[in-house]
Amino acid sequence: MATTLITGGTVVSATGRAAADVLVDGEQIVAVLAPGSQLLGTDLRQGVDTVVDAAGKYVIPGGIDAHTHFELPFGGTEASDTFESGTRAAAWGGTTTVIDFAVQTTGTRIEDGLATWHAKAAGNCAIDYGFHQIMGGVDEFSLQAMDHFEAEGITSFKMFMAYPGVFYSDDGQILKAMQKAAELGLLTMMHAENGPAIDVLAAQLVEQGKTDPYYHGIARAWQMEEEATHRAIMLANLTGAPLYVVHVSAKQAVEQLAWARDKGQNVFGETCPQYLYLSLEDQLGASSEEWGAFEGAKWVCSTPLRSREEGHQDHMWQALRTNDLQMVSTDHCPFCMKGQKELGRGDFRKIPNGIGSLEHRLDLMYQGVVTGELTLERWVELTSTTPARMFGMYGKKGVIQPGADADVVIYDPNGHTTISAATHHMNMDHSAWEGYEIDGHVDTVISRGKVIVDGNRYLGSKGDGRYVKRALSQYLT
Ligand code: URP
Ligand code: ZN
Ligand code: ZN
Ligand code: ZN
Repeated sequence: MATTLITGGTVVSATGRAAADVLVDGEQIVAVLAPGSQLLGTDLRQGVDTVVDAAGKYVIPGGIDAHTHFELPFGGTEASDTFESGTRAAAWGGTTTVIDFAVQTTGTRIEDGLATWHAKAAGNCAIDYGFHQIMGGVDEFSLQAMDHFEAEGITSFKMFMAYPGVFYSDDGQILKAMQKAAELGLLTMMHAENGPAIDVLAAQLVEQGKTDPYYHGIARAWQMEEEATHRAIMLANLTGAPLYVVHVSAKQAVEQLAWARDKGQNVFGETCPQYLYLSLEDQLGASSEEWGAFEGAKWVCSTPLRSREEGHQDHMWQALRTNDLQMVSTDHCPFCMKGQKELGRGDFRKIPNGIGSLEHRLDLMYQGVVTGELTLERWVELTSTTPARMFGMYGKKGVIQPGADADVVIYDPNGHTTISAATHHMNMDHSAWEGYEIDGHVDTVISRGKVIVDGNRYLGSKGDGRYVKRALSQYLT
């Protein structure tokens, strides 16, 4: 087996940092050593096949993006990144594992959705991948299917309090699924927005001629998120099911999570880079020659961007520091403006919902380190270690230690990146982050021992990535 020594860098984990060399044998990390260590009297460098110089750089566990939607049929079209293009873009950005959502839409069977997702992904991924299950309608068949989730390596599933007619579950359905989840030790993920009320608000706005993308965020008011988050918490409380609320954007929803956690309830929250950086005001002000006010469609996602004046973004950063929120995923759900987002010209309800940013998650979160919002350790924890623990992969993923998969990123704090659709690798004709200046740069990406990104060279190939059968969440056992 080929051996690699990553030398001279600062190894950063969720709990500390130290100058150390990392020895990789084949696909695994076999040792983390003090710099210049000798093994049986021999300088380590002499025996290894490849030496990777990480001097002046951070050596971190590969990023884990636990929320992506490749090839998702949604809003009358399909998310524009395939498993091939999406995992390649992830690799460029220092993410070495993704968890995508296998989809059951209302009225279809879970088993069929899962088989379809395996077929989409198998042989096409540059990095390792796992699945959550989207449950698009709780009926006796889907409840039975839950019995097989753990054996399939799918230990978490998502339900929707939003999107009536597509994915929506009512409170009774949610209650039944949570009862079963509590029994089986599965983690319930929730899209917490009051869909039926939002649909009424949205229809009223359109009737008033308020059809621009900005009104998407007005219809999906923070009250709709706070209320649904509270309802999800109470249903989870009643059933004893642990709860993970996805894509949290309203400060009031964070307050609900903090309240439940303070009482000892097993609830967790994830936010996304868009809710830390972008705002409803940005969306209102957006206009271009090509698209006019429809430019704002680039930032249509659910939950929506929130008002900066109301302080939601600052509150998200604070919650990441205080652990009221535990994770940052992207909810990568890319759609092009041309042919996709433009389906909603004249009616914001028809704009496919989603922002694509999985390539930039590590970079965007590293800016929190640069500004002092986060420590280096917290950066690693939010983007790799907690996702691994939350979703049953820790030990193999999320950590640099002997026995772990050699998923390693060498991050250059003195590097620089300018985000642009002209240079990104995601299959999107625009970037939600166009022109953003990033301090820091993903220099080298190693996936199970193979260097797949080396500076500006891409060395990965589709099929390198394997399906990860996940164990039960380590926060629950
Ligand atoms: O706008 C979003 N978030 N699109 C993806 C689907 C979802 O709700 O996660
Ligand atoms: Zn969602
Ligand atoms: Zn999503
Ligand atoms: Zn570089």
